[in-house]
Amino acid sequence: MKTLRFTNEDELDTIGLGTWKSDSGKVEDAVISALKSGYKHIDCAAVYGNEAEIGKAFQKAFKENIISRENLWVTSKLWNNAHKSEDVIPALKQTLKDLQLDYLDLYLIHWPVAFRPDLEGFPQQNEDFLSLEEVPIIETWEAMLEAKKLGLVKHLGVSNFSVPKLKDLIAKTDDAPEMNQVELHPFLHQDELLKFCHTNNIHLTAYSPLGSGDRSSEMKADDEPSLLDNEVVKSIASQHDATPAQILIAFHLHRHTAVIPKSTNPKRIKENLDSAKVVLTDEDMQQIKTLDKHYRYVNGKFFETSDGKYSNIFDE
Ligand code: A2P
Repeated sequence: MKTLRFTNEDELDTIGLGTWKSDSGKVEDAVISALKSGYKHIDCAAVYGNEAEIGKAFQKAFKENIISRENLWVTSKLWNNAHKSEDVIPALKQTLKDLQLDYLDLYLIHWPVAFRPDLEGFPQQNEDFLSLEEVPIIETWEAMLEAKKLGLVKHLGVSNFSVPKLKDLIAKTDDAPEMNQVELHPFLHQDELLKFCHTNNIHLTAYSPLGSGDRSSEMKADDEPSLLDNEVVKSIASQHDATPAQILIAFHLHRHTAVIPKSTNPKRIKENLDSAKVVLTDEDMQQIKTLDKHYRYVNGKFFETSDGKYSNIFDE
């Protein structure tokens, strides 16, 4: 398994298990199944609503010696309603309590978007949002740095940050993010962001690598293109005696990023990890390059406000 190396020499397995949309009642078994298959990297977030169940899986895995805490990498994310300085550490502590862990390996600011601290669920009106002037990202970031000093987390990063937003944060801190988790796949290469991150010592993690077909219908466009059914992907898969999903995952390994396919199905969980054995050629990558159409499955429009507080979240 390829790894990403951090400046302190810590290493992250490039293929991790995604848990967004992993239902309660299924996610505990999914995590156990993943750890038994050899996954060491589990991606979580408070807003996924399933951290307590994932915590049960971790406890079971430690007790049954499926994996040790030291060999496991756990990522989680700060939700948008906890961006204020005084809310960051309590939110992180709740995540640690739910996951039944003493520390996280990586904690990310989930979105460059702030909500009112008392908002539960998704915003319904402009007043539910706080602008980035009211709660600047640097305020949130400094509280994250404090959490790191306290030993609650080993590495810090962001998610859904564009190049301008990364530049802005880097200019304001001596401790730049070590990770940016964003949507990446053959329809969305984001080469400029990849180059910027790699030049600035920021790793990338690819979310929605399979097109997140299990999103709720409100989040889906009627005419969404399918990655798994794409003819170019399918033809490369047959040449490698692999599945389309494995090609979609191997794409990220070729680009030196991490990738977090979500599955709660034991067979597909294993199949996704086995993508590590698929090595794409430069010719395969050239064919995949022709698929790039800057298509986002998660377009961020759900966080745009009509009062101008938030628009064009990805700065493009
Ligand atoms: P399931 O959980 O039933 O396996 P993404 O990682 O882009 O969010 O995509 C997740 C979706 O892809 C889920 O619907 C998941 O279903 C499905 N999926 C995960 N692994 C595979 C695979 N190897 N082949 C086909 N579909 C997959």
